[in-house]
Amino acid sequence: MPAPADATVVHVATAERRYEILIGAGLLGAPAAWQGLPKAAQAVIVTNVTVDPLHGAALRRALAGRYPRVTTLALPDGEAHKDWPTLNLIFDHLLREGCDRKTVLFALGGGVVGDMTGFAAATYMRGVPFVQVPTTLLAQVDSSVGGKTAINHPLGKNMIGAFYQPQRVVCDLDTLATLPARELSAGLAEVIKYGPVADAAFLDWVEAHLDALLARDPAALAQAIRRSCEIKAEVVGADEREAGLRAILNFGHTFGHAIEAGLGYGAWLHGEAVGCGMVMAAELSAQLGLVPADFATRLRRIVERAGLPVRGPELGAARYLELMRVDKKAEGGEIRFVVIDGVGHAALRPAPDALVERVLRMHSGAA
Ligand code: NAD
Ligand code: GLY
Repeated sequence: MPAPADATVVHVATAERRYEILIGAGLLGAPAAWQGLPKAAQAVIVTNVTVDPLHGAALRRALAGRYPRVTTLALPDGEAHKDWPTLNLIFDHLLREGCDRKTVLFALGGGVVGDMTGFAAATYMRGVPFVQVPTTLLAQVDSSVGGKTAINHPLGKNMIGAFYQPQRVVCDLDTLATLPARELSAGLAEVIKYGPVADAAFLDWVEAHLDALLARDPAALAQAIRRSCEIKAEVVGADEREAGLRAILNFGHTFGHAIEAGLGYGAWLHGEAVGCGMVMAAELSAQLGLVPADFATRLRRIVERAGLPVRGPELGAARYLELMRVDKKAEGGEIRFVVIDGVGHAALRPAPDALVERVLRMHSGAA
């Protein structure tokens, strides 16, 4: 595929599909970013009511001429809408517009739009091609890559979904200019995640460049997105369906998903819950004797500097444990946590309830 001259290309190689992640400024308007995608009579842009007025027209311009017909569906915005009724709006649109098996879906937005469009693509007529066009930092560094698609269930986060890889991921750095500061911080949580689980030097880099990232320095953002995507591509290439290794990408997510489900989806942003969850998971790792206590302190400082909450809500330890038992990594009702057992290396293991409760007492509720 001919990539735009100044785009960075990260390759993803899974059993299901090989594809490229393009990272660069101005990609929405770069013809080369869209060349070589599957041909079809129709393309459908799935986005939301916030992103469509900001970036929908640029994508429509990019796809006009390439596809004889381009329609747009703008979903309601927010994690609370990552559910069956909203997913059905996508199927309603596809059927109403006469979309066939070749129709290409374009997910323009953050992780919520990406996860739902991917799930719709995986299941509409048993599978149609889709392209990820992520517009949040979180989606550019994580959710658009690797083929996890899902909706939430009131009892558990991302509980209904499919593995289904996109044809391509197009990360236009310019779209981040319109992102609210709170969402930028949420995205930084997933950037921070990659260092502890896979690359100690990247954690050092993130720590040193956090102010530049918060100031949206283009070079710092490009480097953070490139390295995050490289790590994610490597992990997903080795373990597409999370038989083992891929679980490390869920560092902080067991605690984080409990916060999201416990408070009601959308009360805390996903990245905020993950940031706080990483503080808890680092503490658990230290309490298990896997890393020195100063690693947990260091990670808490980085998460806090990124503008993320470091104390969990007061759900009560019993409620946290109940919610965490619904986690996809749990086996036979036993919760398994991603722990750090050396900076740059993670493992999946159970922990005694009493120890988890101690961590929750230390890091949730009023200080
Ligand atoms: P999101 O999709 O809700 O987007 C955050 C907010 O930013 C929304 O209000 C959105 O409308 C707005 N927005 C998006 N792009 C914008 C832009 N350029 N300018 C202004 N506003 C913009 O949230 P998110 O943080 O992108 O994604 C979180 C979701 O991703 C969660 O549902 C999480 O479970 C999922 N996720 C999935 C994976 C995966 O591997 N599939 C990985 C991580 C997270
Ligand atoms: N965000 C976790 C994963 O993709 O596996």
